Amino acid sequence: MTKQLTKYLLILLIPSLVCVSCKNVEEKENQKTVTSLKEAYKSDFYMGAAINESQIEEQDSLNTAIISNDFNSITAENIMKSMFVHPEKSVYNFNQTDKFLAFGEKYNMFIHGHTLVWHSQLWPWIAEIQDSTQMANTLEDHIKTIVSRYKGRIDSWDVVNEALNEDGTLRESVFLEVMGASYLPLSFKWAAVADPNTDLYYNDYNMTNPDKRNGAIKLIKNIQNQGVKIDGVGMQGHWHLDTPSIEEIEASIVAYSELGIKVAITELDINLLPRPENLQGAEVNQEFEESEAMNPYPDKLPDAIQNKLAERYKSIFELFLKHRDKISRVTFWGVEDGQSWLNDWPIDGRTNYPLLFDRNLKPKKAYDSILSLKAN
Ligand code: GLA
Repeated sequence: MTKQLTKYLLILLIPSLVCVSCKNVEEKENQKTVTSLKEAYKSDFYMGAAINESQIEEQDSLNTAIISNDFNSITAENIMKSMFVHPEKSVYNFNQTDKFLAFGEKYNMFIHGHTLVWHSQLWPWIAEIQDSTQMANTLEDHIKTIVSRYKGRIDSWDVVNEALNEDGTLRESVFLEVMGASYLPLSFKWAAVADPNTDLYYNDYNMTNPDKRNGAIKLIKNIQNQGVKIDGVGMQGHWHLDTPSIEEIEASIVAYSELGIKVAITELDINLLPRPENLQGAEVNQEFEESEAMNPYPDKLPDAIQNKLAERYKSIFELFLKHRDKISRVTFWGVEDGQSWLNDWPIDGRTNYPLLFDRNLKPKKAYDSILSLKAN
């Protein structure tokens, strides 16, 4: 072959070689986009997951790979609750919470703090405090110590969790009993003093029920009217296949957003098991008896239900996308079915399937249905 011919062949071949590699890169990019929730939704809202101690400690590499690939926000499932972080009046235990922060920073995540003031999983000695000034001082110390420790590192906080009854009145928590309703604006004020740049949220379940919604709106307006900073509301998404309806969820997202604050969907999971008749919302202190009828899928979820779960998640995310301008973050309450609190609540020892990854950490149809909404 003459030099001239070789040159000519090269001229012809190089563009197509370059093109093949271009195409590969493009395809890879596309594939990458459609194999990661956080990439797919990056211009819409943060995609979050609640993580437990073993996930924080990266004990299982597949778990870590999923969390870091699909999610760009984390919430601690338990370790930031007062009974763990502040077990005695003068003892704070930041061992696990420091690790949680390190995990979030390592993977460049939006870090959400959960939760400062909650009547449940509570530091046990607080019930002994009967004097309002003493209670206020204790709460102020609790909030300021924790928030200032992570100042500039925790992007948003659930300042108060679950302060409402189902009828929209204030729950008779130890804080309300001893301090009266002033504990609500004061808690937000103390958190804002400790870190003026972190976003402050009120978080609760059944936030789609009209009575509770009215109560939440009143609670938030009351904080706003006192000139105290509140940045958002967290709607815990402990939902079911049939309830709440898309219309109810939508009405609430719109109503909260009209208060001029961000809406986060926190604690999202879809229960697939029968509910005891007297069950009220997501109040964690309720327990019921186990029976075969109440645990219908101990070995495997039937395909028909798997499909229903995928459909349900799809319509929920269609709604979230419609209101992406109002929604700051969507956080799943866990990564895989095996870790979900819904296996043991409200009945102990059942097999539930509420999340996007199965017990072997394989993405479920529900995962695909959410991702497919952003495929084009
Ligand atoms: C409530 C709390 C969460 C968690 C769930 C159940 O929704 O806000 O911290 O305890 O219950 O896991």
